[in-house]
Amino acid sequence: MKVDQFETANLSVRPDWSAYATAYDLLSEHNPEYQALLQGFEAFLTTIEMPRLIYDIGGGTGNYTEIAARACPNSEVCLVEPDAGMLAAARSKLATFRNIKYDSSTLEDFDAPEAADLVICVHSLYAMPGQEQRLGDLRRLLRPGGLLYLIDLGRYMNVTDWRSYLFSNLKKELGLAGALRVFWQGREIAKQNNAILKAQKKGVYWTHTEAEIALAVAAAGFEILKQEPVYRGYSDLLICRATP
Ligand SMILES: C[S@@+](CC[C@H](N)C(=O)[O-])C[C@H]1O[C@@H](n2cnc3c(N)ncnc32)[C@H](O)[C@@H]1O
Repeated sequence: MKVDQFETANLSVRPDWSAYATAYDLLSEHNPEYQALLQGFEAFLTTIEMPRLIYDIGGGTGNYTEIAARACPNSEVCLVEPDAGMLAAARSKLATFRNIKYDSSTLEDFDAPEAADLVICVHSLYAMPGQEQRLGDLRRLLRPGGLLYLIDLGRYMNVTDWRSYLFSNLKKELGLAGALRVFWQGREIAKQNNAILKAQKKGVYWTHTEAEIALAVAAAGFEILKQEPVYRGYSDLLICRATP
């Protein structure tokens, strides 16, 4: 889909990220798969040379920024997030960190002051217009040899499947009454996940197989160091190096 077509279609089916922001961390805290992704990222940081400059693109409420800022206290982390609700949630949560900057641009409009050593882009690429160009943008944000930590939702968001997965985990953790309470508090998430599915089905949001994302990433100028399906097979994790 071309960018102008995306923009027209996008207006009608696009999820409301600000509405999502209100309950995002509540359900993320109780989602073992989300927590596993965060732990994987934290473990990854221990395996690389300390990055000096890090961009977290589509960083949402700042969960990856927080890990990066804590694990790399001498690095500068810039959270790039266009949604006002998400950005406000991140700012208040991360207020005590002195090594975080905030930018409200989209990736396509982000005017990066300098090339980064590490770019994080988790579960946001699929929601952007023109993935080929966006992967090119991610490449340009990095110095040659810099690393891209990319996780992207590739398959249809099966809302019923996720609901029963989350509910059975919550019931184990909090009992039936606790699970019902969290589900009620987090009901906005189910609504927004339905909007994501709708956008995927209309082709407004990108879906891909493992092979398709690997091809797109390589075409944008990355060497893939590691790739695996994550998030119950719905998403792909790719750790990539920017080729010169
Ligand atoms: C599902 S959230 C992921 C947030 C965070 N990365 C995480 O994993 O917790 C997707 C985010 O992508 C952001 N986003 C959507 N379109 C974008 C664009 N064109 N450029 C940058 N971010 C975008 C949304 O505002 C939203 O906060």
